[in-house]
Amino acid sequence: MITTIEELRRWSQQQHHSQKRVGLVPTMGALHDGHLSLVKTANQYCDTVLVSIFVNPTQFGVNEDFHQYPRLLEDDLRLLQTVGSPEVFVPEITEMYPAGFDVSVHVGGVSQPFEGEIRPTHFDGVATVVLKLFLASGADIAFFGQKDFQQVCVIRKMVTDLNVPVEIVVCPIIREPDGLAMSSRNKYLSKSQRSQAVVLSQSLILAEQMIVGEKIQDAERVRKKIRSKIETAPDMNIDYIAIADPQTLHELTTINCDTVILVAAGIGTSRLIDNILITTTRS
Ligand code: PAF
Repeated sequence: MITTIEELRRWSQQQHHSQKRVGLVPTMGALHDGHLSLVKTANQYCDTVLVSIFVNPTQFGVNEDFHQYPRLLEDDLRLLQTVGSPEVFVPEITEMYPAGFDVSVHVGGVSQPFEGEIRPTHFDGVATVVLKLFLASGADIAFFGQKDFQQVCVIRKMVTDLNVPVEIVVCPIIREPDGLAMSSRNKYLSKSQRSQAVVLSQSLILAEQMIVGEKIQDAERVRKKIRSKIETAPDMNIDYIAIADPQTLHELTTINCDTVILVAAGIGTSRLIDNILITTTRS
């Protein structure tokens, strides 16, 4: 297990010296099958894989769950043994943010709407830590889950605009058998909340049926359908239902091109997000 940036740099240099392609899977730990699927994909693309486990304080807002966020390092290390025992980077906070640290990476445009409105400092924290991880690991390819769709847009934009020499691979959302998107935060849900949470993915399937099956192009009609499905769960408070262009995240009124639908809702003290990418090839 690597704990310092200096050690990580040395490790990365050795890998590249041996002509190995380095894959990076950045995580905040509390690993589940979604993370493991990223590692499995990384194993296919790369000669050597690094998983970072770091609960990044700068991406949490003041009233968010930084202190409660599950920290399960021993379980995580055990799980990683089932997917080829990748190298692991587990820094302390002071290693990533030493005293006097005073840089924040801000990505405009795609970081502004949706999550950006609700969590105004979140994506600056994500972009800052991910850039540090890219630079320290020298990764050739980094793997992210589609579950955090807007996060991927922010990271792609940062990589493009700053010419960071890393390829981004996005892997499909991994779901529980009933459709709930896997998330480390699902651990917070009570039994009742857990059974209500499934309406998010169900609402996205209904939307897909409307758009792909019934060829409905009116975004407002689709949004109403999603809303009424989510509202069947009495404790679910909708933050947003966005129907948007997957590249720019600009909201659409007419669905006649590739579209992403992003939903976010609070339940109890938890927040859940989910999304679906719909490819609409129309003549
Ligand atoms: O998606 C996450 O778990 C985090 O936002 C990330 C990319 C590891 C940065 O802390």
